[in-house]
Amino acid sequence: EHAEPTGPSTAQVLVASNRGPVSYTLGEDGSLDAKRGGGGLVSGLSAVDDKLWVCAALGDGDREAVRRGVGEPGVRMLDIDADVHADAYNGIANSVLWFVHHLLYQTPVEPVFDTEFRRQWASYETYNRAFARALAEEAAPGAAVLVQDYHLALVPGMLRELRPDLRIGHFSHTPWAPVDYFRLLPDDIGEQLLRGILGADRAAFLTRRWSDAFIGCCTEILGGTGRTRIGVHGLGADADFLLRRSREPDVDERMAALREQVGEGRKTIVRVDRTELSKNIVRGLHAYRTLLETRPEWRERVVHVAFAYPSRQDLSVYRDYTAAVQSLATEINGAYGTESWTPVVLHVKDDFARSLAAYRLADVALVNPIRDGMNLVAKEVPVVSDEGCALVLSREAGACEELGEDAIVVNPYDVTGTAQALHEALTMSDDERSARTARLAEAATALPPQEWFLGQLEALRQE
Ligand code: G6P
Repeated sequence: EHAEPTGPSTAQVLVASNRGPVSYTLGEDGSLDAKRGGGGLVSGLSAVDDKLWVCAALGDGDREAVRRGVGEPGVRMLDIDADVHADAYNGIANSVLWFVHHLLYQTPVEPVFDTEFRRQWASYETYNRAFARALAEEAAPGAAVLVQDYHLALVPGMLRELRPDLRIGHFSHTPWAPVDYFRLLPDDIGEQLLRGILGADRAAFLTRRWSDAFIGCCTEILGGTGRTRIGVHGLGADADFLLRRSREPDVDERMAALREQVGEGRKTIVRVDRTELSKNIVRGLHAYRTLLETRPEWRERVVHVAFAYPSRQDLSVYRDYTAAVQSLATEINGAYGTESWTPVVLHVKDDFARSLAAYRLADVALVNPIRDGMNLVAKEVPVVSDEGCALVLSREAGACEELGEDAIVVNPYDVTGTAQALHEALTMSDDERSARTARLAEAATALPPQEWFLGQLEALRQE
């Protein structure tokens, strides 16, 4: 199979990901509104010339933009058939691969790999092939291509067949499953995934733990990693951006509003997440309820400010989880709330300025995922915090490798232990809290996004 370039291929650095740096919404009057995203790749890529970002059109707005030829320079959106995309993204990527790498299956009844799964898998292949073809068309001779995440695990292998001249990297933003869990996947599928990523010259991860797990899978299942080099790049927080953005007037306004909601003289336990099964929001609420139950001295004196922003709402498990979070928050407020005190303030509407306001105000940050590739909230809070913030951090977050010494580390399944950690965090002396916050901020910003990205690029270009 050979790629047929549509024009001169000039891109020297290409990034491929399911979700791109811009998305479009279609207004009722037919207008298209562009929304630009942030994140490590966006700021990393900003330092690079002759670049192209290949991503999928994700909704009606994106598809309409592609059809009208509306777009940004340096971004190519692929208008993949909506059903194929839904099977690949909702069916395989988010319901199978995400679950495998985050150990989310309830194994007595899940997973079931049946004919429906095989059908979705065929779509996952089609979707990966569409990316491989577009990259093969667009890449200049010898260009570097950085393929992102579990959505595109087959792309490196497919692209190598089409364009053996390219330097291909793959980066996993998630954990990698330990081999015994990875083996839940049908053997041929597991092998295809590993071989897909091993099509890259270099496969990289956020922490040593995840790269070791990947090497473990390759060794046991395939006998080794072959010619592919393995790397670790621990993305850090973007201090310059965060400090500037968090001091803007809209953030000040939201701080005032939050202070009002919390009430004078009360401490805050803050969490900010997508409403995501792996984030462990429900157990976090149980731990908070345990704190109020077992240490009544905290009643009226603390508020749990929880932001749980909608995510992957096409999937019923995510909708159910969102509902569970909401009903538990309501239940706790019903059981403990008084006329003057609301124990849990839950916000579900995405608002970045309000998240930053909460980071600045927080006395305690609760980051207790079941498993997380890195978790940037844990890294951002200490940077932004006004007066120091104690961090309660899951040992299963990638960030714990770098922040574990100055955080209060918890087993995310241990609700009693998490409640105890919250108490410790709330009672930490001011001096200790600020000393720890300073050290956390330093560790959290060791590898800012641009260096993180450029380091990958350089490593890929070296042989
Ligand atoms: C994780 C994944 C990303 C993904 C993000 C948001 O961080 O590693 O690839 O983009 O979640 O999820 P979504 O499904 O909304 O893109």
